[in-house]
Parts: sequence; structure tokens; C-alpha cells
Amino acid sequence: MTFLFNSDARRGAIFQEIFARELPDLEFSMDPATVDPEAVRYLITWTVPSDLSRYRNLEVLFSIGAGVDQFQIAEVPDHVKVVRMVEDGIVRMMQEYVTLAALALHRNLPAYIGQQRDRLWQALPQRQAPERRIGVLGLGVLGRAVLERLKPFGFALSGWSRSRHDIEGVSCHAGDAGLEAMLAESDILVCLLPLTDETRGFLNADLFRRLPQGAALIHTGRGPQLDHEALIAALDSGHLSGAVIDVTDPEPLPADHAFWGHPRLLLTPHVASVTQPHTAARAVAENIKRMRAGSDPVGLIDRRRGY
Ligand code: NAP
Ligand code: GLV
Repeated sequence: MTFLFNSDARRGAIFQEIFARELPDLEFSMDPATVDPEAVRYLITWTVPSDLSRYRNLEVLFSIGAGVDQFQIAEVPDHVKVVRMVEDGIVRMMQEYVTLAALALHRNLPAYIGQQRDRLWQALPQRQAPERRIGVLGLGVLGRAVLERLKPFGFALSGWSRSRHDIEGVSCHAGDAGLEAMLAESDILVCLLPLTDETRGFLNADLFRRLPQGAALIHTGRGPQLDHEALIAALDSGHLSGAVIDVTDPEPLPADHAFWGHPRLLLTPHVASVTQPHTAARAVAENIKRMRAGSDPVGLIDRRRGY
């Protein structure tokens, strides 16, 4: 029985070391060319290999990242479980990034960066945290973790998801009906939705119009969820006051794209969270033990929902 690691060798070496300790009976391979394909029960990868069918006894396909939108799930046989990455490193980094972005927008950092460039010493009006409403789209592993990290600052917090959630200190909304209310109370909107057919193009002109005048956007979901031109138009008209964008479509962003030079937009190259090999290897090993004990793995994808 073999675990096939199909990603970069540096992270693979860490997985190998941890698996030798945690799952000593499981063969570990980093080489699709020499592995016995019939022996492969578990495969971890970023994209689905084109020759997936050679692993006839595959039971679980793990994503090395938190999303599975890069997988063509329809091409994965029905009996194979598809599992996304849920691990502490990704969670902690996303908490750091969204906190950084929320505080930057709350404290007018994009404007002060411009003022520094212009050698202008001038205080801007400053709201206090309880007067700043932050809304998070997506109340999954990452959305909930980010809200927990934001709580001590005293912001007014709300969240939105497909199904109803109940989180202490957070005004929770669900479904189409709840979206309107959630947008109306978001001075800073954070997108932590997975990319699916329903969320593609979700951050568009219509949605921006429903945000309060002067609201700002933090986008850490996936690039194709955002209509780039609509964001530029909303920033240029002044309806939106700022944006922190970590994911774009395409990635990398072309050198002549309007995001690079926009004075009210902070751009990072898809670095909000990166899988951390030590914590990820332990999480995957733990998931294999769970499955061996007859439980579902953490992060099991529901193929109908697409996340
Ligand atoms: P998750 O645990 O699966 O949570 C997804 C959340 O989104 C759930 O609350 C779900 O609602 C909600 N949702 C999904 N589709 C919806 C829809 N159509 N309408 C309303 N709510 C919907 O995912 P996660 O681990 O938090 O990760 C979220 C995403 O973050 C990933 O898929 C990935 O794209 C992105 N990400 C980005 C980076 C980066 O570096 N930028 C890093 C890691 C992850 P229910 O609770 O009702 O199911
Ligand atoms: C990064 O974006 C991930 O999905 O882990």
C-alpha cells in the first residue's frame, strides 16, 4: 500500500520523514515513474495527473492546497474520496493576512502610503473599531478562524454562508436572503468563498453597489470570483474606498494590468496562506488514521456542492 507525493521535493522530504514515524506500514513514494501504480491508495497533488487512471486502486485524492477548484473533479472516479487541505499553518497564515489587510484598511494605510509619496503630513478622519463593520463571505474553516482573530479588536462582525451558522459575537446570515443584509452592514468585505459555479464572478458591479458608500474589499478567495473591471470602476467612482487583493485571474497578473498602479489597491501575489509541510504532513497522516478507523476525513469534498 503506497502514498504517492506528487509535489515539490522539499516538502516531500518533510512528509516522508513524518509519515515514516506516523504511518510506518505505508510505503511512501515521490516518483510516479518508479512507483507501482497498482499499489497507490493515496495520492497528494496540486493538479490531477493526466494519467490518473493508471492508479486503479486509488482510494483518496488529497489536494496539497486548501482549495480543490484546480481539480476537474468530474474526471476523478466516483469511488475516490477527494479531500482538501485543512491544516493549522494555512489557518494561521490566513488569520494573519486578513488581520493585516483589515487593519490597513481600517487605519487608512493606502491613503497614508500615497501621502508619504507626496510628502504630505495630514491626519485623516479615523473611525473607532466598534464603528467599523467587517463582513466575511464564507464561514468555513478559514472564515471562522479569521473572525475569531478579529474579535479582540472590537469590530462589528458579520458573516455569510450557504447554510446557517451560529457564531458567538458574529451576526450570521445565510443564503440569498441573508446576503443583502450582510452586504449592507459590511464596511470591509472579506471574500473567503471557495471557487464553484455559484461563486465564479460573485464579486461584481451589482454586489459592490449593495455595499455601503466607501466600503472596502479584501479578496483572499480565488481570482475568477472577482470582476476586475468592476472593481476598478467602483474604486474610481469612489463608491469603494480601497481593496486588498491576493488572488487574481490570471495569475500572475500581466504587467500592464490596472491593479498594479492603482493608488487605493494593495496587491499581493497569492501568498495569503501557503501549505506548511510539517503541519500539513501531520494533518494528512491523521486523516489517513481517521479513515482507517472508519471515519470520514477532515476536508472531505461534497462533489455535488463542489467544495
Ligand atoms: P470551507 O471550509 O469549505 O468553507 C467554505 C465556506 O463557503 C462555507 O461556509 C460555505 O457555506 C461557504 N459557501 C460555499 N459556497 C457558497 C455559496 N454559493 N453561497 C454561500 N456560501 C457558500 O473552505 P475554507 O477552508 O474556509 O477555504 C475557503 C477558500 O479560501 C478556499 O476554497 C480557497 O479558495 C481560499 N484560499 C485562499 C488562499 C490564499 O492564499 N489566497 C489560501 C487558502 C484558501 P456552508 O458553511 O454553508 O457550507
Ligand atoms: C492556496 O490558495 C490554497 O488553496 O492552499
